[in-house]
Amino acid sequence: MPRWVSVQDLPVAGRRVLVRVDFNVPLQDSRVTDDTRLRAVLPTIRYLQEQRARIILCSHLGRPGGKVVERERLRPVAQHLSHLLGQTVHYAEDCIGPKAHEAVSALAPGEVLLLENLRFHPGEEKNDPAFAQALASLAEVFVNDAFGASHRAHASIVGVPRYLPSGAGFLLQKELRALGMVLTAPQRPLGLLMGGAKVGDKIQVLMNLLPKVDVLLIGGGMAATFLKAQGIEVGKSLLEQDLIPFARQVLQQTSQRGVSLSLPVDVVVATALEPGAPHWVVPVSAIPSEGRIVDIGRETIQAFVSHLTRCKTVLWNGPMGVFEIPAFAQGTRAMAEALAHLTATQGLVSVVGGGSTAEAVVQLGLADKLSHVSTGGGASLEFLEGKDLPGVSALWSKEELARGRRD
Ligand code: 3PG
Repeated sequence: MPRWVSVQDLPVAGRRVLVRVDFNVPLQDSRVTDDTRLRAVLPTIRYLQEQRARIILCSHLGRPGGKVVERERLRPVAQHLSHLLGQTVHYAEDCIGPKAHEAVSALAPGEVLLLENLRFHPGEEKNDPAFAQALASLAEVFVNDAFGASHRAHASIVGVPRYLPSGAGFLLQKELRALGMVLTAPQRPLGLLMGGAKVGDKIQVLMNLLPKVDVLLIGGGMAATFLKAQGIEVGKSLLEQDLIPFARQVLQQTSQRGVSLSLPVDVVVATALEPGAPHWVVPVSAIPSEGRIVDIGRETIQAFVSHLTRCKTVLWNGPMGVFEIPAFAQGTRAMAEALAHLTATQGLVSVVGGGSTAEAVVQLGLADKLSHVSTGGGASLEFLEGKDLPGVSALWSKEELARGRRD
């Protein structure tokens, strides 16, 4: 039983409800280019509309550093959300103060308002109590549905719950359930498919998951350090010399625990990380001195897919290559397709950590074919590392809600 309350436990009917969302989405020429994070909070918005609440959304966008940055205004996001909801989403040019209060007073039940970028104020990232109070003064109830920002101890995440009854939105709950299931009660065998550029970013996740996994597959740029730990030369690939001992330790632990570990047996190497750069496939024993690993090879794809086929749950974190360049995206595509296929045909539970892996499956159009694709990058990593997320710890318990104050 979670210690925090859900949006459904909160007295939201007819009230002013402040909802922290993570609308930190990519924009190009003032247009949202990936609206996954917007779609993901629609269930919470729709529920609040059914309850005739006045819905006040707040978010950060980018890292403006406590001042107004024109290209990081949230107006285009409000417009995009209007299309998704099929009704006007109002927009306030500030997130606190007279402009925000005026916009809130004009809201009718069921209407939605998006406040301006929280990070235009230095108080947000500093978790300044006066800023948190100013935000809280707009509403009567607070809902956190910003899983992607819940690892940040910022005012809108941990400060506001000091002043308002606070619960978890449906997206936050879904993320905690899906990622939490991998950590605590996965259907076995549990596979961990790791990739991405650096081992350094994944050490804590590996340490936390190693005692739990049955199958470990390592691809992406980070495979270079593991190959080197086995005495294999990796050419010009990014090598984290200082992490070779850690990689050796992982190799040793997996063999002691009987975990089935696979590293690439063949890789795509290129002379540069650019589209059009010469590239070719080699066995890992023959990586040329001028080559960089940019993807896994066909034999590795086949081997990885056959290991995935044995799993009942798979957590995927990190692309298999430089997927932003189409010529180096085949390994990532093959893994996404295999997971989608196994999810549909064998009931595999496939969970994708956020950030670049989520970006890849969205680009490939396969996100809705997987069991869960996290909307959090840093947040999903920290959660999988076994850390408590400040935004979750800050929410109220049933007892606190009954008492009407936070301990
Ligand atoms: C993200 O995109 O991962 C979240 O919105 C958090 O953004 P931040 O790393 O700038 O805090």
